[in-house]
Amino acid sequence: MRVLGIETTCDETAVSVVESNRDGEGHILSNEILSQIKAHQAYGGVVPEIAARAHVEVVDVLVKQALKTAGMRLTDMDGIAAAAGPGLIGGVMVGLTTGKALALVTGKPFLAVNHLEAHALSPRLSDGVAFPFLLLLASGGHSQLLFVRGVGDYVRIGTTIDDAIGEAFDKVAKMLGLPYPGGPEVEKLAREGNPEYFAFPRPMLGRKEPNFSLSGLKTAVRIEAQRIAPLTEMDIKNLCASFQAAIVAVVADRTKIALDVVRADFGEPTALVIAGGVAANLAMRDSLHDVAHQSGLALIAPPIALCTDNGAMIAWAGIERLRLGLTDGLDTPPRARWPLEAKGTVHA
Ligand code: KG4
Ligand code: ZN
Repeated sequence: MRVLGIETTCDETAVSVVESNRDGEGHILSNEILSQIKAHQAYGGVVPEIAARAHVEVVDVLVKQALKTAGMRLTDMDGIAAAAGPGLIGGVMVGLTTGKALALVTGKPFLAVNHLEAHALSPRLSDGVAFPFLLLLASGGHSQLLFVRGVGDYVRIGTTIDDAIGEAFDKVAKMLGLPYPGGPEVEKLAREGNPEYFAFPRPMLGRKEPNFSLSGLKTAVRIEAQRIAPLTEMDIKNLCASFQAAIVAVVADRTKIALDVVRADFGEPTALVIAGGVAANLAMRDSLHDVAHQSGLALIAPPIALCTDNGAMIAWAGIERLRLGLTDGLDTPPRARWPLEAKGTVHA
């Protein structure tokens, strides 16, 4: 089974062809991606209108390129998948309309994929992880602890009540004058700083419900930075290191609680999985590795190219849905907001 997947929900235009064999294993035949980071950098964040326009300009080129790299024609596909949300609506419309048009002209089944579902299922493409597993999805737009029980069967165990984890990294970077996206910059500078230099708060630590709250931590960094301004290079490194230590501690603690909740309410997960752009952070990975290890589980972290936004995860989610006959009509609307539970089981 082969599916073409299109992703345009944020600032990457990405198209991929993924094939699954008889055993259900996925193989990425192509994974084309064009990041718009440069177009947005001057504004310190993603500008929706610029993003939508940039997607329009390149999406057809990327479709051609993805097919060429895969050595396939459109008619070789068994289905066409596109992310239908959640995300920036202008961008979502571009990818969704492109996918529908390709499905219409080829007469192939169409799969309107939830971007979060695609992140949630990506470890099955990279590592063949069996259901059910606990997923920490941590990116610029989302921070969720999801118990993934099956295709379309997601239970949200915890979420952020204010900033997303990647967003907190980005906002701290911005206040310290670092370029967008801030996560990788903060991580780089944190390596040369002292994580104990500033005693930043660790919000929600020890709380029974596995939610995050990160805006207080972000504010604490701002207050400290303003207090000691003007900042030296060493100050910035120490601020980055101390902030990263605090956020990693919070995420590890919340994930540990989520594992307890899953075990008490649903049973044993097969693994702890981390996905989303923040999964690229090595301090975060190390700490979550310890959390998993201490509770007798493996930590699965898909390769970075599959953790950040990409077309392969959309194509793969398309394959998983197509196998179950879960195809969609060409009247499927784009969605700016689309919580996962709306499609699956609601947390009891
Ligand atoms: O999944 P992603 O590519 O896009 C979405 O937001 O959907 O995630 C991007 C986010 C940004 O907030 C970025 O700063 C963060 O992931 N990020 C990191 C690192 N690399 C990317 N955060 C912390 N450390 C990193 N090394
Ligand atoms: Zn994403």
